[in-house]
Amino acid sequence: MVNKQKLKWGIVGAGNIANKMASALKITPNSQLYAVASKTLSKAKIFADKNGVENVYTYQEIVNSKEIDIIYVATTHNFHFDNAKLALDHGKHVLIEKPFTVNAKEATELVRIAREKNLFLMEAIWTRFLPSVKMLKNKITNHEIGDVKQFNISFGGFVGTEYEKRLKDPALAGGVTLDMGIYPISFVCYLLGELPIDIKSMARFSDSGVDEISNYMFRFPSGCLTNICTSYNLKMKNEAIFYGTKGFIDFPQFWEGNRFTIHFHNGTNDINTTVNVLENTHNNGFIYQVEEVVRCIQKGNLESKIIPLNETIAIMKVMDKMREEWGFSYPFE
Ligand SMILES: NC(=O)c1ccc[n+]([C@@H]2O[C@H](COP(=O)([O-])OP(=O)(O)OC[C@H]3O[C@@H](n4cnc5c(N)ncnc54)[C@H](OP(=O)(O)O)[C@@H]3O)[C@@H](O)[C@H]2O)c1
Repeated sequence: MVNKQKLKWGIVGAGNIANKMASALKITPNSQLYAVASKTLSKAKIFADKNGVENVYTYQEIVNSKEIDIIYVATTHNFHFDNAKLALDHGKHVLIEKPFTVNAKEATELVRIAREKNLFLMEAIWTRFLPSVKMLKNKITNHEIGDVKQFNISFGGFVGTEYEKRLKDPALAGGVTLDMGIYPISFVCYLLGELPIDIKSMARFSDSGVDEISNYMFRFPSGCLTNICTSYNLKMKNEAIFYGTKGFIDFPQFWEGNRFTIHFHNGTNDINTTVNVLENTHNNGFIYQVEEVVRCIQKGNLESKIIPLNETIAIMKVMDKMREEWGFSYPFE
């Protein structure tokens, strides 16, 4: 069990998102980015120079390091399971980029290993830790808009060229559901504190054979219904709206917004009050999830209450079920 002042981090995969994590680790107290590992050492060296990282390792060297407490897995989806398993097998705590794994079978196995070895494990759904989302959760849990009966979320855009290759490639477990759909799915489950009991979905496929536009409809035990649409090559409005019996909440700039508006109507068609909520948020929103990881590990908690592992597995099952409906599996599955 780690109970030191500073947690020493190692990053596996010297790609795009690892840079944002490196910046977050630099400014988060009680964390130190100790090493980076890549399959291509020259790439790791460039990353290390850019981000001021002292040690450049192979995957095997980084998990062998006695100094490192926690590994952040920042590779493409197809590698998450192997990379995380390697780290857990060498006694490291692990934070895995979303989606946790490609499917629930892999997720269940990683959770089993982490629990057996008493190691911390978490999916890096960084948006769950944002101040605005924390505030939204409070408002919904406290029934400020009454009983929430309907969620509508759109989350889509033309992704940059740096992400396109990975997203379109079935061999890297691309596709919009695993890459972007995971956010609104996880968001709804978190805010409602429930998992869907009915799941209906449809997808449109790219020439490369991955889902490029996907639509999901869920029904939750509370009776709440959800409509989610997501795409990696269609600009969408990117907003979430939650309709309750006493009002509705408009959360523009899904998924990293810092403000939302509550419209209260007290069960009629007339809006009587409108309240704007703004939650100050750091430019690098990853710091909140890093703080949570540090807090958990220093307290000896092996998972986060904000994103429990059983929920991560259950959400992977939701995505498995939808892919099964579409007859869509990855070449290596
Ligand atoms: N939280 C967020 O906002 C956010 C945003 C973007 C992405 N992500 C997630 O972060 C993870 C990485 O995404 P990214 O955009 O950073 O990926 P990326 O830069 O395309 O690749 C990350 C690493 O994966 C390995 N890799 C990539 N393509 C490969 C290939 N064709 N063959 C073998 N290895 C390959 C490389 O690891 P090596 O360096 O070891 O070779 C690479 O450095 C994904 O899980 C993604 O969903 C999260």
